[in-house]
Amino acid sequence: MNRVARRSFLGGSAALAASFACPFSQQEAVAKSPDWLFGWQNAASDHLSGQAERLFGTLPEALRGGTLWRNGPARHERAGVRYQHWFDGDGMIQAFRFLGDGSLRHEGRMIATQKYQREEEAGEFLYPAFGTSIEKAPVGSPDDLNSANISVLPFAGELLALWEAGSAHRINPQSLATEGVKTWRQDLLAAPFSAHPKVTPDGWLWNFGYGAPSANLLAVYGIDSQGVLRRFTALPMEPLGFVHDFAVTERHIVLIVPPFVIDESLRRPRTSFLAWHRWRPELGTRIVVLDKNDFSEKARLETEPFFFFHVVNARDSGSEVIVEICANPDAGLVTGALQHVMAGKWDTGASDDPRFARLRLNLNGRTDWQAGGTPLDFPSLAASEVGVQQSGFFAMTAGGVRGVPLYGAVARFSADGEPQSMHDYGESFLPEEHLFVPRAEASEPLDGWLIGTALDIRARRTVLSILDSRSLGDGPVARFALPYALPVGLHGKFAPA
Ligand SMILES: [Fe+2]
Repeated sequence: MNRVARRSFLGGSAALAASFACPFSQQEAVAKSPDWLFGWQNAASDHLSGQAERLFGTLPEALRGGTLWRNGPARHERAGVRYQHWFDGDGMIQAFRFLGDGSLRHEGRMIATQKYQREEEAGEFLYPAFGTSIEKAPVGSPDDLNSANISVLPFAGELLALWEAGSAHRINPQSLATEGVKTWRQDLLAAPFSAHPKVTPDGWLWNFGYGAPSANLLAVYGIDSQGVLRRFTALPMEPLGFVHDFAVTERHIVLIVPPFVIDESLRRPRTSFLAWHRWRPELGTRIVVLDKNDFSEKARLETEPFFFFHVVNARDSGSEVIVEICANPDAGLVTGALQHVMAGKWDTGASDDPRFARLRLNLNGRTDWQAGGTPLDFPSLAASEVGVQQSGFFAMTAGGVRGVPLYGAVARFSADGEPQSMHDYGESFLPEEHLFVPRAEASEPLDGWLIGTALDIRARRTVLSILDSRSLGDGPVARFALPYALPVGLHGKFAPA
């Protein structure tokens, strides 16, 4: 990043700090607590450790010796103050260790970000969060706000806990102790590094990050398989929109910016970062396509207004780039249900659901957009098919009628987003992301296992299930139960032995 760009990132965070200069207002009390709300409470302790009980089945050989790493918000309250959005809480790194004897051991530890340590010491929240306005300490860097709570990445010999508006954090994989922030290059201290980096089949890591609000920059990273930053750019994007994920193909990087953008007129005292955003469909969804080789800009395009959290996959197809995503009609999910869940309400409707959508980008300026079909999110595909035509993928989806949060089912989808087989957990579970792990002797790319955690509402504990990707409809082949419940988390990665 050049000096101007770096100043802009930091300048943006100073502006962020200034606009938060307001006294904290007491949160609304949680009204009537539903029986699932314990999934959005603090972790039972800052450092959890327990042997899982095997409920049924046998741990497949292919998983033994591996670790499922997960992350998610786990400190939602301090000193009687409760955050107002699911995405606010401080992250806890989770290790589900699949042992050689077929047993499962869990360990979880709060990530010791600078924010977390300062708030621990103070005994109260000090800093603004994504959806909650708090201003009790000055903010000088994006990392002052960094909650490290979205995902985790084992890469090039390091384990990184990922946020999206600041640095990744280095975690010791044995002790789970936090070892400090990851800086890819000295002049990129605290530059944004998102939670959805892509490792392509050549071993390179690609990522983006969006800067502090007034910076109006998108950071883009190309990192080789040894963990060395080889390419970086900071792209102007004004007004900056909320962007959680991006796409990569064999030749291109695609940045997609929905029209959920910061509106300066909304930056008032006692308002959160989220509340500064406005849905502006007239802007359309803006797309920038970069050449992976040198990060030169190949096209800036515009298409229908939509919102999205997650990309399924992308590929080059002749002169076109095809990107498939889980697209929401607007940002109602992030301003509605994902906020209200903290108060014990789950009020998402079918109209908020993300659906499989295909963007066909002609680099000469024409875009084609198709969306519809089955609700789905948290996609997972074969690592060998990232950036090329996938043979299919897995995702969380709507099962039967459901009165509790999150999607109740996991499904296998065709390459075109058609559901092919499904396991529905039913209403007594809150299933989280499920990850695909290939079988060693796999006959096709999607032959393997799906690993996923779920909160068992009645037993008030977290379970981990393993499903055979070829027969999801038969239900899990094995299930383990932890001796405690974990707060509902976000994303993870499986690292084989
Ligand atoms: Fe995500």
